Amino acid sequence: MTDLKSKFLQVYSVLKLELLNDPDFEFSDDSRQWVERMLDYNVPGGKLNRGLSVVDSYKLLKQVKELTDDELFLACALGWCIEWLQAYFLVLDDIMDDAHTRRGQPCWFRLPQVGMIAANDGIILRNHIPRILKKHFKGKPYYVDLLELFNEVEFQTAHGQMIDLITTLAGEKDLSKYSLPLHRRIVQYKTAYYSFYLPVACALLMFGENLDNHVDVKDILIEMGTYFQVQDDYLDCFGDPEVIGKIGTDIEDFKCSWLVVKALELCNEEQKKSLCENYGKEDSTCVEKVKELYDTLNLKDVYLDYESKSYKKITESIDAHHSKEVQAVLKSFLAKIYKRQK
Ligand code: IPE
Ligand code: MN
Ligand code: MN
Repeated sequence: MTDLKSKFLQVYSVLKLELLNDPDFEFSDDSRQWVERMLDYNVPGGKLNRGLSVVDSYKLLKQVKELTDDELFLACALGWCIEWLQAYFLVLDDIMDDAHTRRGQPCWFRLPQVGMIAANDGIILRNHIPRILKKHFKGKPYYVDLLELFNEVEFQTAHGQMIDLITTLAGEKDLSKYSLPLHRRIVQYKTAYYSFYLPVACALLMFGENLDNHVDVKDILIEMGTYFQVQDDYLDCFGDPEVIGKIGTDIEDFKCSWLVVKALELCNEEQKKSLCENYGKEDSTCVEKVKELYDTLNLKDVYLDYESKSYKKITESIDAHHSKEVQAVLKSFLAKIYKRQK
């Protein structure tokens, strides 16, 4: 484990302890234990890319190798707020997507003692964010901006989730409603804002920047987030569950995935008929038929082509950016996800 990652995890323990002793609720041993177990199960077990990116980005903006202890703690705390936001969305996403596993273990709501208590746990995770921000950032000149940023991004993500879900209703009626622009709209809102824009925006605020002056950075990050979710869609079907830590459900769930959109673009009438008959069914033979069609249409190669084109396009827009520090931030983020297998 890198030094940064172990420091980051240390900060998690501090934040957790503070939340478990929040004076605005009278915790009993049982309730404290529940929250602790829920946090340990859902918050720290991912790749931590989003959270660590806040620290990386802040360092690159400051152009220093080492931050002061204080700065490092604050950057980590902001990073954890994003990991908390992610945990909140994922706990609820897995219920709505009827998922089975996440990060190599059963989804939280699948645990027999948890079930639909997970819905309230999601709300608690969400409520922890303003508690962390209040404890560590109240009084900073950028405090209000931070609160507004988290509110704005949560609003966008929740609406992205909403269109991801209601789009399946339209798709069930008529699969040909699925298109690349529709897919783009869904993934920008459900994934790109919180996964890509938010970490860099947090670092910019901590660095004292006004986000209104960084619309161009936002555009590039949204492009990167779109690329990232296309990877997620690809891995949902073709990734190794052992490596990605989850079993895909996009085909069963009738999702407007990048793969089905591409399949619709490339298939003939007969193949389209088979797709309509088999897409969105729980039955594993139907799922297999969809995967066979994806193979016949060479979607793996179509994806590799998308991946290199998209990488090239993003790299070009980064190179065109006027600030070398911001370029470094964006390039380091892109390097973390290029050709990822998990
Ligand atoms: C999840 O999207 C987006 C959010 C949690 C906001 P998906 O449903 O496509 O993600 P996975 O594949 O379950 O991780
Ligand atoms: Mn989902
Ligand atoms: Mn999901």
